[in-house]
Amino acid sequence: MRVLIVGATGLLGKEVVRLLSPEHQVIGASRKGSDLSVDLADKASIVSMYHQLETVDAVICAAGAAKFAPLESLTDEDFAFSLTNKLMGQVNLVRCSVGHVEEGGSLTLTAGILAQHPMAGSATVSIVNAGIEAFGRSAALELKGKARVNVVSPGWVSETLAAMGQARSAGVPAAAVAQAYRRCLLEDITGEVIQVVKW
Ligand SMILES: NC(=O)c1ccc[n+]([C@@H]2O[C@H](COP(=O)([O-])OP(=O)(O)OC[C@H]3O[C@@H](n4cnc5c(N)ncnc54)[C@H](OP(=O)(O)O)[C@@H]3O)[C@@H](O)[C@H]2O)c1
Repeated sequence: MRVLIVGATGLLGKEVVRLLSPEHQVIGASRKGSDLSVDLADKASIVSMYHQLETVDAVICAAGAAKFAPLESLTDEDFAFSLTNKLMGQVNLVRCSVGHVEEGGSLTLTAGILAQHPMAGSATVSIVNAGIEAFGRSAALELKGKARVNVVSPGWVSETLAAMGQARSAGVPAAAVAQAYRRCLLEDITGEVIQVVKW
């Protein structure tokens, strides 16, 4: 299959590329350093990326940012940034995919554990992650028969915890999260939110 991976140079994206590359034709996208350049926060750049791409069988997004900060310090701009970037970026990735993804193709988005398990500082991230889950389920309904839409919701990733000076063992290795994206690509599922968490 031809698979577009947005966020291909990131921690999770690199693992997805590593996992899928032996069996699939992977096309990477990110703001810099990938086959294709795209900024999720800019709808025109998503449209432009799809126009440069021949049709693909699947799109996987392992990208998108939201501002993590205490509620009382969050500005209007912080909320706007978060909604425009990780939430609407992925919504637009699905909306603009029409005509660029083969009939019956697969679209996989990324949310995160803070949708269900908020913590201090996660207000915008939690909104965004919950929105992605809701959008994924409803888009799957509307696109049934045309495209499958699923969401991977990772818990804290081990490598990220290690980079933050915390115990790697409290998280899920990026390679394990990558398996969830592979499931969404290969299994006949749609409207699923796959949580990948350390229990
Ligand atoms: N790591 C975790 O513990 C964890 C846990 C739960 C959820 N998540 C979610 O998983 C996703 C990936 O996380 P990660 O840890 O792999 O992040 P990462 O290492 O920072 O990688 C992010 C990737 O996305 C690209 N990117 C960033 N902003 C972009 C934009 N506006 N448009 C297009 N591409 C963009 C980056 O490349 P460029 O900078 O060149 O664009 C990079 O390829 C994020 O949505 C994150 O919220 C992560």
